[in-house]
Amino acid sequence: MAMETRALVDVLREAHHLDGDGYAALLTCCTADADYLRAQAREVAVQMLGRGIFVRGLVEITNVCRNDCLYCGIRRSNTAVDRYLLTHEQVMHCCQAGHAIGFRTFVLQGGELPREREAWIADLVADIRASFPDSAITLSLGEWPREAYARWRAAGADRYLLRHETHNAAHYASLHPADMSQSNRLSCLDNLMVLGFQVGTGIMVGSPGQTIEHLVEDIQYIERLRPHMVGLGPFVPQHDTPLGCHPVGSVDLTTRLYAIFRLMMPHALIPSTTALNTIHPRGRLLGIEAGANVVMPNLSPSEVRGSYALYDGKAASAAEAAEGVALLEKQLATIGYHIDWSRGDYR
Ligand code: 5AD
Repeated sequence: MAMETRALVDVLREAHHLDGDGYAALLTCCTADADYLRAQAREVAVQMLGRGIFVRGLVEITNVCRNDCLYCGIRRSNTAVDRYLLTHEQVMHCCQAGHAIGFRTFVLQGGELPREREAWIADLVADIRASFPDSAITLSLGEWPREAYARWRAAGADRYLLRHETHNAAHYASLHPADMSQSNRLSCLDNLMVLGFQVGTGIMVGSPGQTIEHLVEDIQYIERLRPHMVGLGPFVPQHDTPLGCHPVGSVDLTTRLYAIFRLMMPHALIPSTTALNTIHPRGRLLGIEAGANVVMPNLSPSEVRGSYALYDGKAASAAEAAEGVALLEKQLATIGYHIDWSRGDYR
């Protein structure tokens, strides 16, 4: 007879591993058992990491993108987007403002810039490294040749976020144009690991065509890669994209996955993502209650925030924004947590 779901949760907590059927059971079990899963993950997070939530200052440096991912609002063929690229000085200014508030990690995120921008990015990283020696630098700029990653690492970047989006090749092909390949994405992740970055990967939950079997493949891939960070958010349609009519992903499934990854990798850095907070007013808190331990407030200049619209309704104000840290602190306090202002490296 198959093991009771709660016994599976206990095994995952103790052994940090289940077989594929075990993961599928946790993704499909009844609500009461899913609540048990999330409660166990929360307990592990508090035990291992305490009640401090790491904050990362997010700077969306550009919405220019050479790729044409079918789900993404800043895909190159979306002509409704006002394209921007912050200047070097504007990015430095965002970091200065963030540093004054207390941020000690800066995440430079953006669309995939033309290859000629490699040196410009390296200069930016070097300037941030020199100006803020006490802060971590995270890049989230997509797929680049190994040499570019190596150059940015040498310039002082510490971490890199690159979601694999889906580990199933056919599913990947259905979400991306023919000129993108899943094998290239995976080899980028291997390169980043070898270069000594703290690496984050992850998926969109509820992306069009995704099945439970795909999610099990994603879990098993992450289990093999052993990244330092796992970024997961619900799919949220963007009306100017080909997938703009597909239904939004679910809070329940997203938080089950947070809990599974917390039990599998107790030390992992798991953000409670903006997408989750966009589809549910308490999304960020529900993520933390399922084992997440990071939030990424927005440090981008307010004039460009509306243009970085990966999906509809993207939350970019109040506690989602860096100016809103007091509100964030208040929200966290309602569930017994607080902001941890340290660099928050993987340990
Ligand atoms: N809904 C949710 N997440 C999205 N992303 C891109 N488009 C969407 C969308 N429509 C996510 C991708 C990407 C990250 C930067 O944003 O997973 O890796």
